Amino acid sequence: MTLQEIAEDIKGKRSLSDLDEEFLKSRILEKVDKYKIDVNKDFKKLKRKDRYKEFFKDIRKTLRKIYGVYREIKEKRSKKTYLEIQEKIGSFSSVLDIGCGLSPLEYIEIFGKDKTYYLTDISKESIKEIKNYMQENKIKGKASIFNAFDNYNDKLPKTDVIFLFRMLESLESIEKGSSERLFKKLKAKIILVSFSKIALNQGEEIKKKGRSWFRRMLSKNGYSFEDFDLEDEIFFLIK
Ligand SMILES: C[S@@+](CC[C@H](N)C(=O)[O-])C[C@H]1O[C@@H](n2cnc3c(N)ncnc32)[C@H](O)[C@@H]1O
Repeated sequence: MTLQEIAEDIKGKRSLSDLDEEFLKSRILEKVDKYKIDVNKDFKKLKRKDRYKEFFKDIRKTLRKIYGVYREIKEKRSKKTYLEIQEKIGSFSSVLDIGCGLSPLEYIEIFGKDKTYYLTDISKESIKEIKNYMQENKIKGKASIFNAFDNYNDKLPKTDVIFLFRMLESLESIEKGSSERLFKKLKAKIILVSFSKIALNQGEEIKKKGRSWFRRMLSKNGYSFEDFDLEDEIFFLIK
């Protein structure tokens, strides 16, 4: 089937092999009209067309923004940062982390192995690693694959706290307003959001006030929040 062949073609290089297949197909289908790509046509013929080349470049660019971005940002948080996060939150017994990456491997030890953790990410590799860790350490909760862009409507577990660390920007880069869409589905006493202060492209620092789109979204929806900086991150504690 041509859609599958396009997906394989775009995945191409090994660097994108961890890419969620459904996520990729959704991004392809969003752009087929723009480039007049007929997914019922023979793939070999399609591949020769100039408009296919443009379409291919466009999708790779979107994917680089989303996937490339998180691969580049690998810095670990210090123990001190996690302790400060914990102090800001106060006492809690359960967490839902959306787009957790591998950070739970750092923080579960610090926040406590007695708490319940629902850990989600679109990356299969990260979830696999976290599942192993949870099993070995007998951690309560679950690690599962979740695509917060396309499946924002899925039922999520109810917890005391929700983490959205350094991931909303990648949703916004696919479509403006997608963070708000996700946000409206979230239910917790506290939602803690962070953004990296290291700009994704040029390595230039993003000023705090630069998150005005996010602040506007919070005010518009009547959320009250406190913000603070820790290391290279800006945090928003939303109640
Ligand atoms: C920069 S990393 C941050 C990881 C972790 N939250 C942290 O701050 O240490 C961004 C994470 O968001 C995940 N991600 C990107 N798009 C996603 C989506 N649509 N749904 C769920 N997770 C996504 C990536 O796989 C990656 O693990």
